[in-house]
Amino acid sequence: EEIEKGGFDHFMLKEIFEQPRAIRDTFRGRLLTDEAIVKMSGVEDNMKKFLNADRIIVVACGTSWHAGLVSEYIFEDLARIPVEVEYASEFRYRNPVITEKDVVIAISQSGETADTLAAIKLAKSKGAFVFGVCNVVGSSIARETDAGAYTHAGPEIGVASTKAFTTQITVLTLMALRLARAKGTISSSDFRRYLIELELIPEKVKKALESDAYVKTIADIYKNAKNFLYLGRGFNFPVALEGALKLKEISYIHAEGYPAAEMKHGPIALIDEQMPVAVIATKKGHYEKVVSNIQEIKSRKGKIIGIVTEGDKTVKDLADHVIEVPETEEFLTPLLTTIPLQLLSYHIAVMLDKNVDQPRNLAKSVTVE
Ligand code: G6P
Repeated sequence: EEIEKGGFDHFMLKEIFEQPRAIRDTFRGRLLTDEAIVKMSGVEDNMKKFLNADRIIVVACGTSWHAGLVSEYIFEDLARIPVEVEYASEFRYRNPVITEKDVVIAISQSGETADTLAAIKLAKSKGAFVFGVCNVVGSSIARETDAGAYTHAGPEIGVASTKAFTTQITVLTLMALRLARAKGTISSSDFRRYLIELELIPEKVKKALESDAYVKTIADIYKNAKNFLYLGRGFNFPVALEGALKLKEISYIHAEGYPAAEMKHGPIALIDEQMPVAVIATKKGHYEKVVSNIQEIKSRKGKIIGIVTEGDKTVKDLADHVIEVPETEEFLTPLLTTIPLQLLSYHIAVMLDKNVDQPRNLAKSVTVE
């Protein structure tokens, strides 16, 4: 096992640090920047289904559901396809409206999650076309779906999902770009620019990982907090949810993720000097509005951990700590902003002496209801 951990103390940390490689592997053969092409056979072969779709319904659970939520913002923004993101467990029992004109995307790291599998079977029985985004090759979900695209994250051992999440977002982004090009909803020059930017992401993830030592010092300050709040907007709202989930899963600290603007409808009542608030405030994503949320937190003496774009000054002046990530296109920022949040939960869990790779009560894949 020590050999498998490749010198890291835990699988989770190894997997966090593998992300530049995992994302690059997920690009391989698909992202052809020089030719300005995105090639995905599962999409290519079923292009008509995608182009004629009234909407995309994403079904997933846990972290995969968060990746689905990120993809909602990306598909709608780039490809102008309406997207609904569903918890598989709710969808399957809801008597949902599904037609032959729906494309269902099922996202699952393990490919074995019982609820997701049941949601797929239901969608298929109503005539929908079902596309799988799985990590485990030959898994039940990969076999049950009509077509699909694998993430190439490699085996994920840590129960708390990390590289599966970022590679799922990578696959879904490639799909959105391919469909946007086919539909003509983005110009060829934007398409080309986005591909070039996407190709730079593994290097930028590497850069984001350099915050590790600094994130550890932040973890040390807040490790005894009873609650945490995570805020983000737009593409980064799901990242806030995922940040909170990571902390809950492995450190057992209560955490909530919220869309930043919803803070005023509830969570703001919780803010006092005991409350650390991680706020994702990247340069282009409703930046001014998030900055005013940060001011509201500050005036209530909450402790602010800002996740910001490199070189940011405004948030730096307001926040207790800022963690910088490289600049990129706004729709690609989740791939970067998620990194320090993974590290934060990891270090807190280690400092609290929790079982990072096998947290209590959780399983890597949930094959029962
Ligand atoms: C479990 C795991 C999570 C995972 C979820 C969905 O709860 O602990 O890490 O996100 O199942 O799993 P899947 O394999 O379908 O992505």
